[in-house]
Amino acid sequence: MLDLDTKVHDESRQGEAYAPAVASTQTYNRKFYIESYGCAMNFNDSEIVASILGEQGYGPTRNVEEANLILVNTCSIREKAEQTVRKRLTEFKRYKKNIPGMLVGVLGCMAERLKGQLLEEEKLVDIVVGPDAYRSLPALIAEAETGQKSVNVLLSREETYGDISPVRLDNNGITSFVSIMRGCNNMCTFCVVPFTRGRERSRDAHSIVREAAELFNNGYKEVTLLGQNVDSYHWVNDNGSETITFARLLEMVAQIDPMLRVRFSTSHPKDITDEVLFVMKKYENICNYIHLPVQSGNTRILQLMNRTYTREWYIKKVDRIREILPDCGISTDVITGFCTETEEEHQDTLSLMEYVHYDLAYMYFYSERPGTLAARRYQDDIPEEVKKRRLAEIVELYRRHSQESMEKEVGKTFKVLVEGPSKRSADQLFGRNDQNKAIIFPKEHYKKGDYVMVKVDSCTSGTLLGKAVE
Ligand code: SAM
Ligand code: SF4
Ligand code: F3S
Repeated sequence: MLDLDTKVHDESRQGEAYAPAVASTQTYNRKFYIESYGCAMNFNDSEIVASILGEQGYGPTRNVEEANLILVNTCSIREKAEQTVRKRLTEFKRYKKNIPGMLVGVLGCMAERLKGQLLEEEKLVDIVVGPDAYRSLPALIAEAETGQKSVNVLLSREETYGDISPVRLDNNGITSFVSIMRGCNNMCTFCVVPFTRGRERSRDAHSIVREAAELFNNGYKEVTLLGQNVDSYHWVNDNGSETITFARLLEMVAQIDPMLRVRFSTSHPKDITDEVLFVMKKYENICNYIHLPVQSGNTRILQLMNRTYTREWYIKKVDRIREILPDCGISTDVITGFCTETEEEHQDTLSLMEYVHYDLAYMYFYSERPGTLAARRYQDDIPEEVKKRRLAEIVELYRRHSQESMEKEVGKTFKVLVEGPSKRSADQLFGRNDQNKAIIFPKEHYKKGDYVMVKVDSCTSGTLLGKAVE
């Protein structure tokens, strides 16, 4: 059955245990087990945490039974995300009871949102750390070891963890995330992120380029630059003599090596500039793919959401992208049943989807988050069954479009970056094309990390199937 509160085609992982991609030669005297929920930035934060803990002699383990410390890096974006974490914490509580000295820590957005309340509610949680306070984790662990509960949820205006080399956990050794900024200043009324992640700040551009170059030198072939709103990236050096915009940063990363693919996410429709589109056009290794969340196709709802663009503005942006980058993949996020949304306004979202024909969409029904502007200003007045029915209609339309978007690729040849074996069969390889479409083809003599030209001969709703060509 369709789970109406999960993303369709969700690329992000939920609650996976994390262990290093490459076995470390370092010996650790203690082990931590970490599970991450939510967006790619949260997963990337877990890698920063792994680096901070590594300095203290803590090594990561995928086996909770080996661990002295359990960490749950949490997400607050929708109520269901928080419920999932709470259920998991209850399981850890039970587990911890039988293991003397075991510590459990809650990190991330739920830690920030609920603060000390988590220590009260989840009685066996020992440590609560917000997204900007990970450097204090060793001190908080030491405090918790003395039997005290420890909390640090201070948000910062400066912290970017720019100097920390993340320990790459459990990835494929080919593609990696690189955070370029933290926080968000946008105040979309439905969204909890500005409250859990604080003010927007951009990371030192040179530390980003260094990190991406280091990844490339270590065999990685693709980096995804991450931020809640990458187009508002704006870094100025200490004496003010150097200013780097997102377009310039993109160019700097693309220039590391033509064999390093560059992706980025997320673009806010109000901020993405022609300059960025022209840089994408100029560099073959910047992937033709833009995640451009619309949220709603109706201008009144967009205004209530404080998205600061109209339906017409969004459509013009899409037209401009297609004018400059004709084969660019476009994906979106959609929320159904936002406060006061009428049936006609919901139809506007459907008609906008008909116009754009998204290649990928993440779709949700509105979940009121305590403390957000929408929770304070508006009534969450659309009954849940209506929200879910509207979501089902959106999902159905999206499925048709994504099927069409896959079918139109049959017969074409794409350059595919191989990420590893296909889940279906060890004789098949899995990779992605420029537009982020998944492609599976027979392995032959190819291997992970290769760029292979693949001719597509058929497709499923989510995957292209083909064969390598010369
Ligand atoms: N920064 C990105 C942007 O501006 O589009 C997205 C950030 S958010 C982590 C990812 C998506 O979650 C949003 O685009 C939105 O569709 C969805 N979302 C956020 N708050 C929500 C809520 N209260 N209820 C349902 N979906 C929500
Ligand atoms: Fe949330 Fe809006 Fe910021 Fe995205 S841009 S993180 S939706 S407040
Ligand atoms: Fe969730 Fe926080 Fe990301 S609320 S989506 S983990 S920024």
